[in-house]
Amino acid sequence: MFDLTGKVALVTGAGQGVGAGIAAALASQGASVAVNDVVTERAELCATELAAKLATSSPKVIPKVMAAPFDVTDRVAVESAIFQVASNLGPIDILVNNAGNAGANTFEPTRFSELDPDHWQKFIDVNLYGVLNCTKAVISSMQTRRWGRIITISSGAGQSGLDLGVSIYGAAKGGSIAFMRHIAIENAKMGITANSLALGLMNTIDDPTVTQHMERVIPVGRLGSPEDIGAACVWLASEEAEWVTNQTIGINGGSLPS
Ligand SMILES: NC(=O)c1ccc[n+]([C@@H]2O[C@H](COP(=O)([O-])OP(=O)(O)OC[C@H]3O[C@@H](n4cnc5c(N)ncnc54)[C@H](O)[C@@H]3O)[C@@H](O)[C@H]2O)c1
Repeated sequence: MFDLTGKVALVTGAGQGVGAGIAAALASQGASVAVNDVVTERAELCATELAAKLATSSPKVIPKVMAAPFDVTDRVAVESAIFQVASNLGPIDILVNNAGNAGANTFEPTRFSELDPDHWQKFIDVNLYGVLNCTKAVISSMQTRRWGRIITISSGAGQSGLDLGVSIYGAAKGGSIAFMRHIAIENAKMGITANSLALGLMNTIDDPTVTQHMERVIPVGRLGSPEDIGAACVWLASEEAEWVTNQTIGINGGSLPS
C-alpha cells in the first residue's frame, strides 16, 4: 500500500523543515524527488543527505534525488526549472507546494493595522503566486498523462481568524486553499487530485516564546513534526487516494478551525 515507485515528485521549499520531511517520506515510498529551495545550498545539502540515506536503506530500486534550486515566485524560473527536472527524472506526477511563510524574508507577526502595506507582497508572492506558478508548470503534462497529485501545504491561518498578527499570511493561505478546490474540480475527471493540508503549529519554529503557550492548547499535547506531514503527503500522493480530492485536511493535533 502507498507504493510510489516510478513516480516523480517535486517538493518546494524542501531545503529544511516540513518540506525536507515531505521529500524524505515520498522518497522512502519509492518516488524520485526534486528538492526545491530558493536557497541553493539548502536544496543541495538536503538532496545529498537524502540520497545518502536512501543508499543505505537498501530498497529494491533506489529512487533518484536531485536538488532543484529556484524561486517559486519567479514564473519564468519555475517553468525552466521544472523542464529541467522533467528532463532528469521524468515528468512530475506529484507536486507538493510547500514553500511558504514569508518566503526568503523573516516572518515578523504584526497586526494588520500596524503593518506597512509594503510588507503585504512577500506573503502573497510565496504563499499564493508560488502555488499558481508551480501548478501552472505541471498541470498540462498531468492532464496529457491523465494522472497527477497536487498537494498544497496551507495553514489553519487560512481557515480561521487568529489574533497572532498573521492576517496577510492567512489571506494568502486561504487563497491557496480556494485555488486547490477549483483545480480539483476542473481536473476531477482527468485522474488528477488537488488537496490542501492545513497545518497547525509545527516543531520547526525554534523560538519557545512563540510555541510554549500555544503547545498547551493543542489537544494531542505536542507540536506537529515534518514526519506527521510527510505521512499525510504519502497517502494523498498514492494510487489509493484517487477518490480524495477537493479537500482541506487539518493536520493539527486535534485543534478545530474556529
Ligand atoms: N511552521 C509552522 O508552524 C507552520 C504552520 C502552518 C503552516 N506552515 C506552512 O508549512 C510550510 C513549511 O513551513 P516550515 O516551517 O517548514 O518553513 P521553513 O521556513 O522552515 O522552510 C521553508 C523553506 O522554503 C524555502 N523558501 C522560502 N521561499 C521560497 C521561494 N520563494 N521559493 C523556494 N523556496 C522558498 C525557504 O528557504 C525554506 O528553506 C509553509 O508553507 C508554511 O507556511 C508552517
